[in-house]
This record gives sequence, structure tokens and C-alpha cells, in this order.
Amino acid sequence: MKAEEIKTVAVVGAGDMGHGIAEVCALGGVDVNLYDVKQEFVDKGMARIRQSLDKQASKQKLDENAAKDAAARIRGFTVLGYALKNADFMIEAAPEKLGLKQEIFREADGAAPPNTILASNTSNMSITRIAEATGRPEKILGIHFFNPVMLMTLVEVIRGEKTSEETMNTCYEFIGRLKNFRGNMVPVRVEKDTPGFIYNRLGAPIGLYMSELHEKGLADPEALDAKVRSVGAPMGPYEIMDFTGLDVNLHGNEYFARTLSPEFEPRSWLKIMVSEGRLGKKTEKGIYEWPGGARPNIDMNKADPDFDVMDIMCLQVNEGTKLLEEGVTGSPAEIDKAVINGGGAAIGPFALTKGMGWDKVAAQCEAISKRLGIEWFMPTRTLKEGKIDI
Ligand SMILES: NC(=O)c1ccc[n+]([C@@H]2O[C@H](COP(=O)([O-])OP(=O)(O)OC[C@H]3O[C@@H](n4cnc5c(N)ncnc54)[C@H](O)[C@@H]3O)[C@@H](O)[C@H]2O)c1
Repeated sequence: MKAEEIKTVAVVGAGDMGHGIAEVCALGGVDVNLYDVKQEFVDKGMARIRQSLDKQASKQKLDENAAKDAAARIRGFTVLGYALKNADFMIEAAPEKLGLKQEIFREADGAAPPNTILASNTSNMSITRIAEATGRPEKILGIHFFNPVMLMTLVEVIRGEKTSEETMNTCYEFIGRLKNFRGNMVPVRVEKDTPGFIYNRLGAPIGLYMSELHEKGLADPEALDAKVRSVGAPMGPYEIMDFTGLDVNLHGNEYFARTLSPEFEPRSWLKIMVSEGRLGKKTEKGIYEWPGGARPNIDMNKADPDFDVMDIMCLQVNEGTKLLEEGVTGSPAEIDKAVINGGGAAIGPFALTKGMGWDKVAAQCEAISKRLGIEWFMPTRTLKEGKIDI
């Protein structure tokens, strides 16, 4: 199937992600069948979409007719078979449970036309395992949107073991047609189903580094965030942790501890905060105070003169070279594209550190590794040998 042949998309699950995915599809001119298990969940998803479109139209950021047109493209369903009957493409955004996803894919395989591509928005379930529930594994893949979908343009297109090249190409092109409030969605190819895919995987060592510095009392979060912001970043790493939710960070650490290395085990400060219900912005208390959800006041005068912001970039480049070695992507530029579009950075870590010389990047990673006693930060062979084509 070609991307332009995709006229109707079934979105399965109308929650936080599903309603946003339905909205970007509709804004991209595609008809959407939005399914959930109960009418009230479908209604809630539809109401959130209308509210979001109306708000943009009232601010004159979206043409009123475009908003009306998008809303009119979405129909609600509570019977999966009906939602899939005329669908060319399915994007599943149901809860993160393998058994549940496999059940949905089994049913979808029976109900959807034979050519229909079936995608999952899973954060960390195996695409290959999900595909096993169907008789069309070559048409199954991961499509990983970021939250909130209407503001985050990055979409990772993930190959399972049996996903065909045609399916990858069709989806990659199709995603580029979808639109959120920032513009067209930006697809990035992930050639292997790997923990964290690209964007979250590049964030993993930064989370570990920040967590360890805090655990050992080697960094004052405000001073470190002020330093990172002083070079132009919109938020420092500790503020980002609070913003995302410390519970989400804890689960992320646990996940990477299981899948990458035990060195990612959550540090005690994080476990304590989560157990005390200090989860960050959503509870108005975390590393910082967030009164009424307002951003913390970071005192820029406190910027830590000793913290080298390039540490963050070097660790990201090192993690990126692991992805190159594992065959997750063949292209450092694709990794930079993921970082730019997922986190709003102006420039990706490979482009930024290239001028330093790869040997210096490797030496900086080794110094961090030795200082903290974390093996994961040791430079890869690819980095040490400078075999990076960008
Ligand atoms: N929230 C995020 O930040 C985020 C980011 C990327 C990916 N994801 C992934 O997206 C998926 C959905 O996450 P979410 O945050 O939107 O969850 P959510 O809980 O907000 O929404 C899930 C929806 O699925 C519905 N549902 C339950 N059982 C179902 C079934 N059998 N069939 C269809 N729908 C069913 C629920 O009623 C609910 O509306 C998960 O796999 C999650 O890991 C989430």
C-alpha cells in the first residue's frame, strides 16, 4: 500500500495519546474511526479533540474551517470490528499491557481488510511479540508518538523483526502528512525494536547522570539547571524530571535497569520522593515547588560554574553510537533529528560535538564514568575510533 492510499485510520483507545493521534490524523486530512471500549470514553476523547481545535481556532492559530473540517472527519465507535471495517491503517493506543495489545491485534487481524497496516503506539512492548498475534507480521510496526501529541512533532517509526520495508516506507511517508499545532509531524526510522527506541534511549544516560549527581550530593539541581539554561536550553534536566513526573522517571529507570543495565536502578532520593507523593509538577511539589502548576523560579545567578554542559552532549553521543553499533539506525543525522524534534533542541548532539573531535568526546565520557564509577558511560569502540559519519 502507498501512503496516499491511506484514507481512513482507525485509532484504538481514545485516552491521552489516542485522542491526540486522532486529531493529528484529522488535521492531516485523513478520516478517523476513533474506538474505545465504552461510549463515555469515546465521548471524552471527542470532547477533548473539539476543545483543543476550538481553542486554537479562537486564538486564530488555526483556520476556523480547518478546525471544523478536522472535527467532522472523526467518528466514534465502540465495536472494534466496525471501526476497522473500512480502515487502511490502525494505530493502537490502548493501555501498556502486552496481553491486551495482543488481544486487540488478534481481533484486528480478523476484522480489518487484508492490506490494512496495524501499528502500535507502545512505549516499550515488543513489536515482534505483538505481531505474533496476527497472520500479517510484515504489516505490523510501532509508531511512537510523544505526549502531548498536538505539540510534539517527533514520531518514531519502529521495525519489528518481520516488518517489511514497504510497510516502513509507507508509514514513514504517511506520518509526514499528519499535522499538529507546530506543523507537519516528523518521522524518524528505528530499524530495530530496542529499549527506549531513539529519543528516550538518548535521554537514559542523562537521567542516570543527573540522578547519580543528586544522590551523591555532587550537584545542586537549581545551580545545575541554571547553568544548562544559561547556554540557551529552555529547561534544565532536573526541571524536566519534575515536569515529566518523578514517578514516570522512576518507572523509566526501572525499565532501563531491566533491559539495559542494573546501573540504571532508581536512586534512593527518587524512590523516597515518589513514595512521599512528591511527583513534580502534577503534585505541585517535587525537586522544585510548582505552586498552581507554575514553573519554578530558577535563580540564574546561581549557575554552577563547574558544571560542563558538554557532559550531557558527550553522553548522548556515546549512547547514540551504541544505537549505531546495534543497528537501530545507520545514521547519526537521524539521531540528531530525533533529539531536535523530540525535545526542542536547536541542534543535535552529533552536530554539536563534532567540532570537539571524537577523541575528546570519548575522553570526556571516560572521565565521567571513572569519576562516578558507572561503567555504562564508558565510550564505545565506535566513538573511540571516531567511526562516525556526519
Ligand atoms: N502517555 C504518554 O506519555 C505516552 C507516550 C507515548 C506512548 N504512550 C503509550 O500509548 C498507549 C496509550 O497510553 P495513554 O497514555 O494514552 O493511556 P490512557 O490510559 O490515557 O488511554 C488508554 C485508553 O485505552 C482505552 N482502552 C482500555 N482497554 C482497551 C481495549 N481493550 N481496546 C481499546 N481501548 C482500550 C481506555 O479506555 C483509555 O481510553 C500506551 O501503550 C502507552 O505506553 C504513552
